[in-house]
Amino acid sequence: MPPSTQNADPNRSNAHEPSAATAGDDPGRVEPNRADPNRADPAPADHNALDPDRLDQVCAQASAAIATAGDLDELAALRTLHLDGRGAPLVLARRALGALPQAERAAAGRRHNAAAASVRAAYEARLAELTAERDARVLVEERVDVTLPGARRPRGARHPLTTLSDHLVDVFVAMGYEVAEGPEVEHDWFNFEALNLGPDHPARSSHDTLYVDPVGSGLLLRTHTSPVQIRTLLSRPLPVYVVCPGRTYRNDAVDATHSPVFGQIEGLAVDEGITMADLRGTLEVFAQALFGSGLATRLRPSYFPFTEPSAELDVTCFACRGESSRQPCRVCSDEGWIEVGGCGMVDPNVLVACGIDPTRYSGFAFGMGLERAAMIRHDVHEIRDFVDGDVRFGLALGTGN
Ligand code: PHE
Repeated sequence: MPPSTQNADPNRSNAHEPSAATAGDDPGRVEPNRADPNRADPAPADHNALDPDRLDQVCAQASAAIATAGDLDELAALRTLHLDGRGAPLVLARRALGALPQAERAAAGRRHNAAAASVRAAYEARLAELTAERDARVLVEERVDVTLPGARRPRGARHPLTTLSDHLVDVFVAMGYEVAEGPEVEHDWFNFEALNLGPDHPARSSHDTLYVDPVGSGLLLRTHTSPVQIRTLLSRPLPVYVVCPGRTYRNDAVDATHSPVFGQIEGLAVDEGITMADLRGTLEVFAQALFGSGLATRLRPSYFPFTEPSAELDVTCFACRGESSRQPCRVCSDEGWIEVGGCGMVDPNVLVACGIDPTRYSGFAFGMGLERAAMIRHDVHEIRDFVDGDVRFGLALGTGN
């Protein structure tokens, strides 16, 4: 059946579409559009509102109320009530103007204007008074003594060890090294075994290792940054040039020069054709970065299980420039040299432990204690100063920025 035929069915009632015919027949229905013309006005026009006496009275009442307004909020409310709100007598009076006969309208309009102006004047006067009062009060209540000293936060200082470590890292990064880091809780294999320190190696006890519970977990607090050598060689493609700063731990009793927690910085280069000459040249740069230019370096034969040959790096004392034989020197205890750290050519066993062919690759490594270097550099006599956290210590060492 086509839709038009369906709608034409007289027996069907369509509940959704009320027709005009039925709506008009409903006596209870309110027609919203056919509104009472007076309903738009809040109040019917009142001709008496323009009566001179009435206006005077309205004016007097409004001005009196306004003159006694206690604060600006109250004044604003009174303004709406008496002057310009929808139901304000003056507003109603203005509306009544239109309904006056032409002849009376001008005079009534002038009266209304004069009345409104006087109420507005009363309003402006009270507004000025209340505003002045409020301003005076705010000036007193919110008074600020600009001569009081400010709550100045003292500038902090970077830790001297951070500054030193960053400085040395920068020098190596400038030479093309990368930064490598490793965990402080380390596995025995990385800290000792892969570094050619077998379980029975005597050098293990000299490290005074702090082991981590449970016994047999194989975990310890790393005793040096050298395990980062192993982690680097296992994870990065060759050649490798890395600098490894970090915190290290040994079971040392605290005294003026020992601390169970201390920092180290390690360097490692593994490439084809690396020789001890490369190590020496690199250490010269390192010594210069540490103590300034023009200082000689020397390598003193030593022993580390993970380097062969091994050496201690000494630098001419920057304070006496090696002249301690003529003048006593506090910095180097009249040695003329300062011991800086350990170094050597990477032991082939270390390369083998990391799966590297020692007939093709060779390398050098060096490591140094940060506190010791900082103490020498800044003439600090007490290692505990580094952990006291006194900002003056950092500031005094010129690192307060
Ligand atoms: N790891 C050594 C130590 O803590 C220092 C070192 C690093 C020596 C690298 C040689 C090569 O004493």
